[in-house]
Amino acid sequence: MNEPAATNGQALPGRYYTDPTLFSAIKEGLLYKSWHFACHESQIPETGDYFAFSIMDQDVFVVRQKDSSLRCFYNVCQHRGHTLVEGAGRANLLVCPYHAWSYALDGRLRGAQGTKGQANFDRSRICLTEVRLDRFCGFVFANLDPEAEPMSEAFPGVESAVRALAPDIEERVYAGGHEVAESCNWLVAVENYNECYHCKMVHRTFSSGVIDPGSYDIQAFSEAAKCLHHTAKAQSGDTAWYDTSRSDYGSFFLWPLFSLQIYPSGLVNTYHWRPEGVGETTIHRGWYSKDGVIDDAMQRVIDLDRQTTFEEDLELVKRVQRGLASRGYRPSPLVINPEGGIDSEHSIDKLHEWLMEAIDG
Ligand code: FES
Ligand SMILES: [Fe+2]
Repeated sequence: MNEPAATNGQALPGRYYTDPTLFSAIKEGLLYKSWHFACHESQIPETGDYFAFSIMDQDVFVVRQKDSSLRCFYNVCQHRGHTLVEGAGRANLLVCPYHAWSYALDGRLRGAQGTKGQANFDRSRICLTEVRLDRFCGFVFANLDPEAEPMSEAFPGVESAVRALAPDIEERVYAGGHEVAESCNWLVAVENYNECYHCKMVHRTFSSGVIDPGSYDIQAFSEAAKCLHHTAKAQSGDTAWYDTSRSDYGSFFLWPLFSLQIYPSGLVNTYHWRPEGVGETTIHRGWYSKDGVIDDAMQRVIDLDRQTTFEEDLELVKRVQRGLASRGYRPSPLVINPEGGIDSEHSIDKLHEWLMEAIDG
């Protein structure tokens, strides 16, 4: 008997997370057309600063121009295909490590040794291939789809909502972060992030140290924006990890692979998921402070977060991925409470709706 098709209010069949063919369809229908987090503006402040990253099997980089604007290119030399830059750095000219062809910061070919006088070689026709770039509250994103709508249209109103909670968001500076390989499909990690039904059970420290679990809610931001908005009151009292009294918790998950979290009192941090294969995902956790410095109180939050919430989730998603490949898994109805709240998975249903929209056309 064939597995049932995905239906509203149901957990998805395991193949959505384990089947390489379906993963390819999701790449083509969704991930190659989505906005992917690249880096923060503060990581490339000067002319010639570049930051290389990957969108699955596609290598790209962002580079600061002479007029201080940012541009994004595929990270591939147009000669015979070597990658052009590695990691992050600063350069006046981008020189390929293979045969030393060089490119200006705007992607135009500047030099190619030995080609002078060659009849069929028109240097002016060769340039790097550009990739769409956009900004969101100081965070830099790239999209491989030249036709993609700008982020202001993909996520209308979300930037203003972020600013309402963190008015100084544009002045934040990247303060540090860490990256871990997760043995799971990206959607397993993203679903896990976007429900707090497991929080009281699994994230006891987070639930007593950062947020008040009884107040936790996740709602679609609006009809127009594919964003899940997490809200909660700050946890107060003896168990709080730090002084949480200045503002409440809010998190803005931008479908499909990035979340900007404002912990109570305006502590800005991010989750960024990078699909590496059908069952492999890299997760990057970033922290942002006013001056890029991490004080003792912030360091304590970073450490506690990593040792508890982050580690706890890693273990969950690994085990879920294994279970989704089980021949014995028969998906059940999601837990849907029309009122929302912490004991509801309507947010998961929303993710499935967005996924189906992308892959079913
Ligand atoms: S591949 Fe880059 S110079 Fe040859
Ligand atoms: Fe979790």
